[in-house]
Amino acid sequence: MITRLNGRARLAGLATVVLAAAALMLAAGAARAPATTVLPYEDPSLPTSQRVADLLSRMSLQDKVGQMTQTERYQVYDDTTPITTWRLGGLLSGGGSTPTNNTPTAWADMIDRFQRAALATPLHIPILYGIDSVHGDGNMYGATVFPHNIGLGATRDPALVRDLAHVTASETRASGPQWTFAPCICAARDDRWGRTYESFGEDPRLVIQMETAIDGFQGPPGHLSDADRVLATAKHYAGDGDTVYGSATGDYKIDQGVAVTNRQDFWNNALRQYVPAVQDHNVGAVMPSYSSVDWTEDGVGNPIKMHANQELITNVLKGTMHFHGLVVSDWQGIHQIPGDWATQVRTGVNAGIDMMMEPNDYQSFETTLMDEVNAGRVPMSRIDDAVSRILTAKFELGLFEHPFTNRTNIGAIGSPAHHALARRAAAESQVLLKNSQQVLPIRGHQGVYVAGSNADNIGNQAGGWTLTWQGGSTNVIPGTTILDGIKQDARGHVTYSADASAPISHLDVGIVVVGETPYAEGFGDVGGPQWAYDPGDHGVPRPVKDMQLSAADKATVDKVCAAARKCVVVIVSGRPLILDPGQLSKMDGLVASWLPGSEGAGVADTLFGARPFTGKLPVTWPRTLAQEPINVGDKSYDPLYPFGYGLRTG
Ligand code: GLC
Repeated sequence: MITRLNGRARLAGLATVVLAAAALMLAAGAARAPATTVLPYEDPSLPTSQRVADLLSRMSLQDKVGQMTQTERYQVYDDTTPITTWRLGGLLSGGGSTPTNNTPTAWADMIDRFQRAALATPLHIPILYGIDSVHGDGNMYGATVFPHNIGLGATRDPALVRDLAHVTASETRASGPQWTFAPCICAARDDRWGRTYESFGEDPRLVIQMETAIDGFQGPPGHLSDADRVLATAKHYAGDGDTVYGSATGDYKIDQGVAVTNRQDFWNNALRQYVPAVQDHNVGAVMPSYSSVDWTEDGVGNPIKMHANQELITNVLKGTMHFHGLVVSDWQGIHQIPGDWATQVRTGVNAGIDMMMEPNDYQSFETTLMDEVNAGRVPMSRIDDAVSRILTAKFELGLFEHPFTNRTNIGAIGSPAHHALARRAAAESQVLLKNSQQVLPIRGHQGVYVAGSNADNIGNQAGGWTLTWQGGSTNVIPGTTILDGIKQDARGHVTYSADASAPISHLDVGIVVVGETPYAEGFGDVGGPQWAYDPGDHGVPRPVKDMQLSAADKATVDKVCAAARKCVVVIVSGRPLILDPGQLSKMDGLVASWLPGSEGAGVADTLFGARPFTGKLPVTWPRTLAQEPINVGDKSYDPLYPFGYGLRTG
């Protein structure tokens, strides 16, 4: 029965009841479950620096050295145990290293499986997963594949580059990787370099304009944990594109060679672009170059590997430029440092490299580094600096709170909207070099005759770093070939004959799409090795790169330009190609198409006027191979087409 109490008494009684209830609840709570103590590093409300310091204080040397170690997917794909036992801090997919089923869901499932093994470590430190999303997430079937950087440099459109990097980040993060080894901010000074197409251009000032790619990847400060952002990597620090032809060791002709230069020229051609990348765009990672630098003012003959270069990595990048992110080695990059393994490990770490990309030697890297620390040859302060940088990235990526893939955007991978952006980028990257009697754009119901090795080959138009490391002519990805685009845009009849063996009407305009087959790194060096590791080639020798049209392409150009009413030549390549003056004189139109990616329709859009030609040369187009290296600003400068050249239509 409830007795009615007088006012004051009622209030007093009520208070007693409430207090008693509260006490009971507290007691019950305390008894119900053991209090799960949240350690400071596990508390997202604390500043990152405080979380890093707390976690670092709890780590053994094994924990720390493990964080500094990144190995390849194939080492742990069938058995993830080493991730836990070796306390691995990072994993990667090299070019072509994919889950058995190459689908976005399989990627996310694979990386989440790796993550579970990482969280099984005593301190539950999540793993970083890196990938070369250098023109879209080219490894992943179904990803939107954008033009390579040389074409993006031709657009002179920093906002477009930011937007397509954002799409790339979204498609990459939704499938698991939280880190891209991009953008390359190299300035390609000699087009004989197999990685010329990974450069936005020969002039560092153009490269700097395109560093908006970092903003697209990472988003504004504080957004790295978003579902559509990834950690970006400025690479390859520094001078990867400044090496001297013939200076490389082994069978490489220029890739991984030596920049023989003085500090002022090196700053102008290879170093200055890192300042805005670090200070304006806040890039989260930097990757050293395989190449070396040999200072002429110190007397040449003493090349220093960038992976061993403490002056440039620690003193300049981390010191003068105030880089606070992490330095990740290139693939087995320290293996090229002179000396035995212990020397290579010690030198690379002491130079300032924080995480070592060791696809095959991660165990011995860890044990050797521990030995070097215990012997006092690598100071613990260097280890703590490296681990702090790595942990900071992981906290900022939100991996401690959300270690598993956020699949919010997985359904948008390869979406029509993303392909529309790729189509626009392909169109804006086209550079019109010749347009006699305004043959372009092709108007009205004009019949066209299409020929050439690259007219209907999406593998060739995508180039390297697409499904496989080297790319390949038989690599097929979702998208449109240039021929597909021509068929969409032409209003007259379209005849296609790859080798121009079909009859050619003299009323037709010929479109001959020619150029290079895919390659990556040193395998694209002019005079470089013929053999490719690409499993798709099964060791089939590749034609040595000579920066020329193939004999077959030259014959096709001759045939079509002799018979058709007009002829337009479209060159799909990773760099300028040397053109025969006689052939050039027979062309009415000439287009540098670069490596347009998955949307060849964007190329057709400019040929038929759906979009105007607006592109400008990102690199100088030489007359002869003997002119290389030839760059804007050279004293004697007489190219076929100069840097910045490009005719407009519309
Ligand atoms: C390669 C390249 C580098 C790439 C890395 C991982 O050798 O030099 O650009 O990010 O290995 O694939």
